[in-house]
Amino acid sequence: MNDERRLSKLASFFAFCLFPFALATGCQQKMADQPAHRPYEQSKMFAHGQSARPLANGVIHRGQLLSDDPMLTWLTPKGKAPEHNEAYKFWVQSKTKPTTDPVTNQPIPPISASEAEGMLAQKPQAGSPNDIANFVDTVPFEMNEAHLKRGQLLYNAACAECHGAAGHGNGKIPERGFLRPPSYHVDPDGLKKDWSKMIVQPTSTVAYDFTGNPQGTSRGFYKYGLTVPLKEVPIGYIYQVITWGYGGMASHETQIPKAEDRWKVASYVRTLQLSQAFDATKLTAAQREALDHPGKKSDAKPEEHK
Ligand code: HEC
Repeated sequence: MNDERRLSKLASFFAFCLFPFALATGCQQKMADQPAHRPYEQSKMFAHGQSARPLANGVIHRGQLLSDDPMLTWLTPKGKAPEHNEAYKFWVQSKTKPTTDPVTNQPIPPISASEAEGMLAQKPQAGSPNDIANFVDTVPFEMNEAHLKRGQLLYNAACAECHGAAGHGNGKIPERGFLRPPSYHVDPDGLKKDWSKMIVQPTSTVAYDFTGNPQGTSRGFYKYGLTVPLKEVPIGYIYQVITWGYGGMASHETQIPKAEDRWKVASYVRTLQLSQAFDATKLTAAQREALDHPGKKSDAKPEEHK
């Protein structure tokens, strides 16, 4: 074979091998360069000069919850436009907080006159816990056992590390020095276990309850002069605390992104409150047996994350 023939053979070999690639890149170019518009690109097609039309008023994306959807509105109309209540005014105007600190017995410093004026001049924000009527007291859908089990699963994953598995405020994180959450319970047994009032070292004079409010009561409501046990706060308030956080507790909206799941956790908190104050002698023998052998109790499984 002379050189010329060898070269031409090589050329046709390469041409043969590379042909599919040439074809593929050709196709790719054609598909990518179609005469199509990208959204909101400049265009003469419509009078407003863009390729995509603006959304018509009131358009919502698929699956979007409306702000007045009961799944999202834990606030009553009153809660959306709160006014200062009488208890708050009294609390501020009396210029003293109601109690001395129950742990240290030290007086809580009085509020100065200018501080009191400033507090009364500020309008309460939507969702201020200055009235229990600001929050809905029912869950927007019917709870079943599987929902509560899902609430339990999420509570154990996202709340128990601080609030404790039964809600006495004795989770691992406050045990290591984090601000102690209030206990969810006010029954005598619950009070005995209320961690927020216990002092780490018996000799310490540091009160771990920073607000001086009674055991098991909401710190949020207490700031507005109201003593409301957490056992009695409307369930909408528990939902708000999970969604927005409160004081030293961060929002848990990212951890529990679905509104429906946050209602399930709030309902599980209610379940815990019932569980710690229930008179066990009222249980039937069958219920007792089911509790002693929980495996047999029910077939309900926690709902899967959809
Ligand atoms: C990192 C620790 C931590 C986690 C996790 C946590 N909390 Fe809290 N929670 C706190 C602390 C601390 C407070 C008290 C805040 C304060 O006094 O400033 C609190 C307060 C509360 C209150 C009472 C608010 C009031 O008015 O007194 C509720 C109800 C509550 N948390 C529910 C929950 C639920 C439900 C979850 C799980 C979704 C959760 N928390 C997760 C630390 C936590």
